[in-house]
Amino acid sequence: MLTAAQKTLVQGSFATIAPIADDAAALFYRRLFELDPSLERMFRGDMKEQRKKLMQMLTAAVKGLDRIDQLIPVVQDLGRRHAHYGVAEKHYDTVGDALLWTLEKGLGSAFTEQTREAWALVYGLLAGVMKDAAREALAVA
Ligand code: HEM
Repeated sequence: MLTAAQKTLVQGSFATIAPIADDAAALFYRRLFELDPSLERMFRGDMKEQRKKLMQMLTAAVKGLDRIDQLIPVVQDLGRRHAHYGVAEKHYDTVGDALLWTLEKGLGSAFTEQTREAWALVYGLLAGVMKDAAREALAVA
C-alpha cells in the first residue's frame, strides 16, 4: 500500500517536473527507445502530441492518488486501449525503467531513495491495473 508520505513524495516531485513536462517526456521517449528500439515503431502518431498525452495522463494519475476509486476506471480504460496498441506485459517493465530514469534526470538530488521507492510503487500499481484490464479485454476478444 502507498502511504500518505509516499503519495506526498510522488505528488511533490511530479510538481517539480511539471514546468519542464515536454522536455521530461522527450527524455523519457529517448530513453525508452534506447532501452528497446523495437518499441519505436509502435508509436505511429505525432510524438509532440504523444508527449503531451503522456504527461496529461501522468498528471491525472498523480493527482488521482487522492481519489483512487475514481482513478482506477480511468487507468483500466487506458490499459484496455494499450492492449490494442500491441503493448505486451513485458513492455511495462521497460517503460517503468525509462520513467524512473527520467525522474532521476529531471529531479537530480531531489530524487532520493524514498522518492524512487514511492514512484516505483505508484508505477507498479498503475501498470498492474493496466495489465489486468488488458488481459481481461484480450480474453474476451
Ligand atoms: C503507466 C503507464 C502508461 C501510461 C500512463 C501511458 C499513457 C499513454 C497515453 C495517455 C497514450 C495516448 C493514447 C491513449 O490515451 O490511449 C498512450 C499511447 C500509447 N502508449 Fe502508453 N502509457 C503507459 C504505458 C505504456 C507501455 C508499457 C507501452 C509499451 C511500449 C506504451 C505504448 C503506447 C503506444 C504504442 C501508444 C499509442 C501510440 C500511437 O497511437 O501512435 N504505453 N500511452
